[in-house]
Amino acid sequence: MASTDTAVPHVLVLGGTSEARDLAARLAESMPWLRVTTSLAGRVARPRLPVGEVRVGGFGGPEGMARWLREQRVAALIDATHPFAGTISFSAAEAAAAVHVPLLALRRPGWVPSDGDRWTHADSLDDAARLLPGLGERVFLTTGRMGLASFAHLDALWFLVRSVDPPEPPHPPRMETVLDRGPFTLDGERELIRRHRVDVVVTKDSGAAATAPKLTAAREAGVPVLVVRRPATPDGVPVAPDPGSALEWVRERLG
Ligand SMILES: NC(=O)c1ccc[n+]([C@@H]2O[C@H](COP(=O)([O-])OP(=O)(O)OC[C@H]3O[C@@H](n4cnc5c(N)ncnc54)[C@H](OP(=O)(O)O)[C@@H]3O)[C@@H](O)[C@H]2O)c1
Repeated sequence: MASTDTAVPHVLVLGGTSEARDLAARLAESMPWLRVTTSLAGRVARPRLPVGEVRVGGFGGPEGMARWLREQRVAALIDATHPFAGTISFSAAEAAAAVHVPLLALRRPGWVPSDGDRWTHADSLDDAARLLPGLGERVFLTTGRMGLASFAHLDALWFLVRSVDPPEPPHPPRMETVLDRGPFTLDGERELIRRHRVDVVVTKDSGAAATAPKLTAAREAGVPVLVVRRPATPDGVPVAPDPGSALEWVRERLG
């Protein structure tokens, strides 16, 4: 039930990640007097919903978000979006500065290679597509359905594409799809790599534990991994590495 009491501090969490859901749950449990709204972009047909209020859809750029923050009397903003959701993070920084709302970025740390890993880094999905033909022929592509257009011209390679919702064209011509969402198990990842004779894995540097088993499975199988680096984030925004630290940040301001 939405609170209409303007004296109740209102926290907006920009979501679409497990950390955002975790934070919404922690806020509801530890600071039940708060009004907490999670914002989702609306990309996934049936998203996992957080506790608390939910709004869905873009704000209409930084101006739209600033208007929303003002109208909804938001007292603290947490950008808990995926590390690869680059646009919304800059919108949040601009909007928060415009209406003087404190902003925190909740960003899980990136992955670090271990002994035995065979990683190559790419600067973007287009860069990954450029590097891929030199690394393998049977590709496990785990970068989501939104970036498939970057790989659509690679007709000599075969792709196993994993995504939450079915991919739409443009996509690579030789492609099989696995519809699934994390968390994924190590045994499951080993089996996918073995059964499909995968000889290269492509991943974003998402840094999530839920999707890390593919890296272990690739290491064990001696399969190279093409890791796409994270996009830039706005300067000057404090960063919390996990939901517990973000909860403390909110408590310091509104507790
Ligand atoms: N990119 C990924 O790899 C990835 C992976 C897993 C989950 N996600 C989640 O999926 C969502 C969309 O990702 P993206 O890469 O398309 O983002 P993006 O490129 O940063 O954002 C594009 C536009 O989508 C809207 N938007 C994005 N996140 C929103 C949110 N949480 N609430 C309301 N509007 C939002 C904004 O529209 P307006 O300008 O109109 O406000 C934004 O300008 C994010 O919330 C992210 O957490 C992304």
